[in-house]
Amino acid sequence: MAPARKRGGAADLGAASPEVLWEEQVQRAAHPLAYPALRSARNRPVVRVPRIGVVVSDAAIAREVLLDLDHFSKVGPGAPSDLWTPVLGPSVLLNMEGAEHAALRRTLGPLFSPRAVRQLVSADGVGVLPDLTRRLAAGETVDLAAAVTAQAGAVICGMVGLPPTDDAVRSAMAAAQTITGMVRLHRHGLTRSQVAQARAVLERLTAPARAAYRAGDPATVPGRMRDLGLSEREAMGAVGAFVLTGTETIQSFVPRLVAIAHDTGWTSRLLADDPQLRRRAVEEGLRVTVPTPAMLRSVRAGTSVGGVPVAAGDRVVIATVNCCRAAGGFDPDRPVDPAVRHLWFGAGPHFCLGMPLAMAQVDAVLDALAAAASGGGVPVVGRRRAARGVLVPSYRSLALSLRDESSVATPGAAE
Ligand code: HEM
Repeated sequence: MAPARKRGGAADLGAASPEVLWEEQVQRAAHPLAYPALRSARNRPVVRVPRIGVVVSDAAIAREVLLDLDHFSKVGPGAPSDLWTPVLGPSVLLNMEGAEHAALRRTLGPLFSPRAVRQLVSADGVGVLPDLTRRLAAGETVDLAAAVTAQAGAVICGMVGLPPTDDAVRSAMAAAQTITGMVRLHRHGLTRSQVAQARAVLERLTAPARAAYRAGDPATVPGRMRDLGLSEREAMGAVGAFVLTGTETIQSFVPRLVAIAHDTGWTSRLLADDPQLRRRAVEEGLRVTVPTPAMLRSVRAGTSVGGVPVAAGDRVVIATVNCCRAAGGFDPDRPVDPAVRHLWFGAGPHFCLGMPLAMAQVDAVLDALAAAASGGGVPVVGRRRAARGVLVPSYRSLALSLRDESSVATPGAAE
């Protein structure tokens, strides 16, 4: 079934393709007010939007802001520090700047080395991905959103130093979602009771991490953090930051990528044994889904952004979703504009630290799907539902089953 067109709100979509309509539905289910407000700014490179801030929709200007550390900061009114400092403490990368920030990033670097990342992703103790392959190959219909959620939960367990039992995975994911679900773009911070709740949830989630840190076992991430010279406070802040930044993004992206590949007839190419082709399709998927749809900065000193004057204390909202999607719909064969390339992971000193882990997680799921399809079938998408009230737009469920390649309909003919 094709997604319903929203009356009025998405009128400009006209005769849009299924991929575009589904993406629109996923975005609007998560942010029914903020998403249309951000998108309405997309035809102006920079525009001031009441209650939201100075919205940037041009990739080159976005990069200028992200690289201009004299005028723009992640610390200050309207910046991520407003949201996260009360919950995570003052020194957790995403609310730091300058030499201290650079030093902490350098210290944490080894945690994202190719070897460390492989270990984290392969420590899927509950066997989520082998189970996904087996069930698909056996002709069952699986919920890809649930499988990716469980896999992301297993990675969190690895980070906090917990054995990934089913229960631990479920409660780790629920904890992460409770906290991120409180964030709304039009509110600059969390309420006092939200902060108290978020801290309590995080305290429970990171209790095993604290124990692993104190035990100093280098087989655990918190134990390695201690070896790398982090204080207990820094290590717990980093674990909290990783859980909050690195969980929903993956949970959001992988099912959306598979859905887009299905809707555009790209599934076989995405799962083919061709690393270059897969990389292009994944990057193009990131460009059109933009799992982190916006980046926030606080203005440190008066200047102008793309000709719009801004004063100290103003909030700049980089509408990454507008910057990245300006080039059009999903097309891995189209060369990517250098201004846009990787902007979905940010730019400058705060560029996503977890990118290697993100790419490894995506690859692990695609490998599991490719293994299921190795007998000649193609995974096709059945029923799907967008998630409501989440910070990162995602599918709540996405049914996937294997069909004979010859019986799969024309590209774009969703379901
Ligand atoms: C597809 C998945 C992901 C996307 C699209 C993504 C996107 C981003 C973006 C756009 C930023 C920069 C924000 C800004 O400058 O305001 C960022 C920062 C960050 N990301 Fe990711 N991310 C992803 C996955 C992950 C994962 C798996 C982790 C794992 C721990 C992670 C950890 C971080 C951290 C720690 C930062 C803060 C870096 C700093 O401030 O120095 N991310 N991410």
